[in-house]
Order: sequence, then C-alpha cells, then structure tokens
Amino acid sequence: DLRIGTAVAGGGHHLEQEYPDPFPNDRAYRRVLAREFSSLSPENQMKWEFIHPERDEYRFGPADAIVRFARQNGQAVRGHTLLWHSQNPAWLTEGTFTKAELRAILKEHIFTVVGHYRGKIHQWDVANEILDENGAYRQENIFIRELGPGIVADAFRWAHRADPHAQLFLNDYGVDFPGAKVDAYEALARQLLAEGVPVHGFATQAHLSMRYGKPDQLRTVLQRFDDLGLHTAVTELDVRMDLPEGGVPTAEQLATQADYYTTVLDACLAVDGCNSFTIWGVTDKYSWVPHFFPAEGAATVMWDDLRPKPAYYALRDTL
Ligand code: XIL
Repeated sequence: DLRIGTAVAGGGHHLEQEYPDPFPNDRAYRRVLAREFSSLSPENQMKWEFIHPERDEYRFGPADAIVRFARQNGQAVRGHTLLWHSQNPAWLTEGTFTKAELRAILKEHIFTVVGHYRGKIHQWDVANEILDENGAYRQENIFIRELGPGIVADAFRWAHRADPHAQLFLNDYGVDFPGAKVDAYEALARQLLAEGVPVHGFATQAHLSMRYGKPDQLRTVLQRFDDLGLHTAVTELDVRMDLPEGGVPTAEQLATQADYYTTVLDACLAVDGCNSFTIWGVTDKYSWVPHFFPAEGAATVMWDDLRPKPAYYALRDTL
C-alpha cells in the first residue's frame, strides 16, 4: 500500500508570475503527474498564505483543482500544512491578537480547511518544522511562541475531529540522520501517544544536498518511529548538487544523485509502516531548489523537458 507521490507546482514564490493557479497549465507536465504517481501534494496551494489570505476569506480554488485532478486519476492527496512558521499571511503574523483569539484562529482554520477536504486526504502534515536543529520548539512559529508547545497536541486533536480518516503527521527536514532533532521528535511522539493524542505518523521531508552525504542511516531512523506504532513517510525528497560551470551536471554527479534517491526509497521499503514516498517536484522546470539554494540545482528526477534522469530509472528499478 505504498503511495508514490510528487508535489504539484504552483503558487511558489518563484512561480507566481509565470504560473498562477491552479497549477501549471502544461499538458506534458500534467500527463507525467497522472501517469507516474499514486499521490499528489500541493506544493503551496494549501498553505495559510494561499488558502486563508484574509482573516475572513478562504480561497480553495487552486487546491480544489489538485484534489479534483487526483480524484480523476485515482490518486491520493497529502495535505500540507496546518501549523508552520513560514508562508503565513500578513494578517496573521502582523496582527495583534490575544492568546484566546490566536487559539480560536488556529482552531477555526483547521476545522475549516481539514473539514473542506474531509474524506479526500490520505495524510495531513499537521505540524511542519516545529523543532529546530537542537530539538527545541521553534519560536518563529507564532502559535508555539504565543500559546506554548501544548498547541501542537490541540492541532492534532482538532484535525482528527475535522477528518477522522486522515492520517496525521509530524513533518520536518534535517531528520535523515540520528541526532538531537530525531531524539526530540521521538520523545515528542512518545509523549503525544502517551497522552492519547491522535498522531499517526512521522515524516522526513528529505531535502538532501550532495554536499552533506548519503542518508545511509535513514532506515534506522524511520524504524525508531515504526517501533512506536507510527506510520512513516518521505514527503519532500529532492537531491540537489553543486552545478558545474555551464550548469550541466556530470555523469558522475547524476549517478551519485540516483544512489541518494534509491537509498531513501530503500529505507522506506525496508520499514513496514512507511506508506508514502513523495518527491518534491518531478521536473527541474518547476523546482524550488535553484531559487532557494544558490549555485545548487538539478535536484529532481527529470530535466526541464521531462526527459528522465538516471535517478528516475533507478527509482523505477527499485520498485
Ligand atoms: C517550498 C516550495 O517548494 C516553494 O515553492 C515555496 O516558495 C517555499 O516553500 N519545506 C516545506 C515545503 O515544508 O513547504 C517547502 O516548499 C520546502 C521546505
């Protein structure tokens, strides 16, 4: 029951001009989405700044289009995301609210958005990037800063009431290797489970760079959460590299990249409850990487013209 997914481009800071909603009006791209994947993740379209642009205004159109497309193609959808420090609307981050108001705002948002998609979402990334690299709660997160870490449990409880069938996830980057951050997530997961909070999974985004080495301990990390009885998932895999002069990766770089991709897929395949494996975009044409990581790129499995790279074939041969 492993779902293989990709993020659907649209609404990104780097795409906004060229590709407004719902998602790239690009037939060849849409054919690839329909043909290659059994799960889709809106890359931006369900984030607060897009789906809740004003306090009293929700804008579901772009995300609805993805959910419709997925339904037509028999695909699952991963909802992303409900509690995050980034890509929040100005009305929220620059407003002045009492604690009671903030709590009510988050609760209403979760009931409205999760409720809108009730029955149509396989997994929700309820809590995104809530811990820093030392395993401390991120104070950039307005809800955590103002309301305290207990708000995380509330977010899961509200999401579960709004859609009892969706699997609810903790999601973060920098958790592909053992260390303080993974330890903190394991402690948090244990605590939430002990309190009876409806948390169902732990996911690694897996935004990898070839600068930092192959994640050869990922299987062990995922297994620790599997042992707690949680599902696990890979939610945003991409593998960026330093581009040589001229911008074209070498054959050796592409082989290394393929090895990184299959290492992550192998880790998921080796862990019983790992039920979703998603890459963060299928083609470099729409990848966020060059816009966020200077000098790095070529991070997805297909070139701009949708020709597959070695990583594509390596993943296919692994499945
Ligand atoms: C990124 C998108 O890919 C970009 O289009 C957008 O401009 C910024 O956000 N972790 C996450 C994702 O959870 O939501 C981020 O997506 C990448 C890092």
